[in-house]
Amino acid sequence: MERKILYSAVQPSGNLTIGNYTGAIRNWVRMQNDFDCFYAVADLHAITVRQDPATLRRRTLEIAALYLACGLDPEKCTLYVQSHVSAHAELCWILNTVAYVGEMERMTQFKDKSQKHADNINMGLMDYPVLMAADILLYQAHYVPVGADQKQHVEITRDIANRFNNRYGEAFRVPEPYILKEGAKIMSLQDPSKKMSKSDENLNASVYLADDRDTIIRKFKRAVTDSGNEVRAAAEKPGITNLLNIYAAFRGCTLEEAEREFQGTGYGDFKLAVGETVADALAPVQEKQKQLLGDKEYLAGVLQSGAENAFRAARKTLSKVCRKIGLYRGE
Ligand code: TYM
Repeated sequence: MERKILYSAVQPSGNLTIGNYTGAIRNWVRMQNDFDCFYAVADLHAITVRQDPATLRRRTLEIAALYLACGLDPEKCTLYVQSHVSAHAELCWILNTVAYVGEMERMTQFKDKSQKHADNINMGLMDYPVLMAADILLYQAHYVPVGADQKQHVEITRDIANRFNNRYGEAFRVPEPYILKEGAKIMSLQDPSKKMSKSDENLNASVYLADDRDTIIRKFKRAVTDSGNEVRAAAEKPGITNLLNIYAAFRGCTLEEAEREFQGTGYGDFKLAVGETVADALAPVQEKQKQLLGDKEYLAGVLQSGAENAFRAARKTLSKVCRKIGLYRGE
């Protein structure tokens, strides 16, 4: 039976947080045995906000190493850098003629980022979801494993795919988001009404995948909790609920199981347990990533064969699209 196709990516736009791990990468690893997976480092998306060129270059490689360190196997899935496959930018241009300005202006992330980077509301920032649609549609993906914040972008991808198919004839598979319950939305440790983000100015708000054990435990100890003293998930307890979610995601258990485990435990001991669990889980990943970054040649090789694989798959879709819309290709 033909395997279903999976597509996802992370932007090298800052230090990755445990949210990127639990919302995305962790799930990718589990799925690589059962799906045909394409995982990219989305460097073209990253430049929609200002990046320091040397840092962008370093982070791109760091994320590739992280993918491998987390357990993605280049023999099983295609790992590559988005800008190495020019078909992404080409299809993005074509889809720009199908996507509407009005719908892009309504995207939550565009509105948030425009506010945050008011001095740099560039065309790329608004076009971000169209490039994302190009990424996904090029590979005819069935599923897109992402965190909850990206659901809207997968939905607009579906709209764009349907619109194109209706207008020009079937060219794209219409993908579905794949969002797991535990870990799909990790909130800031300092303000649990806000998503944990790579770019938070408060360094205690986010736990980075690169943080050392002491830092991780300290950040969890300082995490904002709620009134009361019961460790239980509830709407009026956003801080504790977030910590329970993080624990469940890292332990691979359900929220209910996590709650049961900490019944009767005080906040202090609970926070320490979450910190230790996260630190224990990240230590081997950090060690492996460091090792991999010491072998740049190997990494470059993985990314090169990944890009070749990706190009082969992308080229098929792109030629089909060009034919459908009437771009002259010779007879
Ligand atoms: P990025 O780098 O912003 O996020 C990468 C992944 O991490 C998830 N995520 C979270 N999950 C849970 N809790 C959080 N606090 C949290 N913060 C981030 C995101 O949902 C995402 O899955 N636009 C994409 C990158 C991309 C992409 C694609 C994804 C480019 N092309 C094609 C899928 C398919 C993004 O948000 O990257």
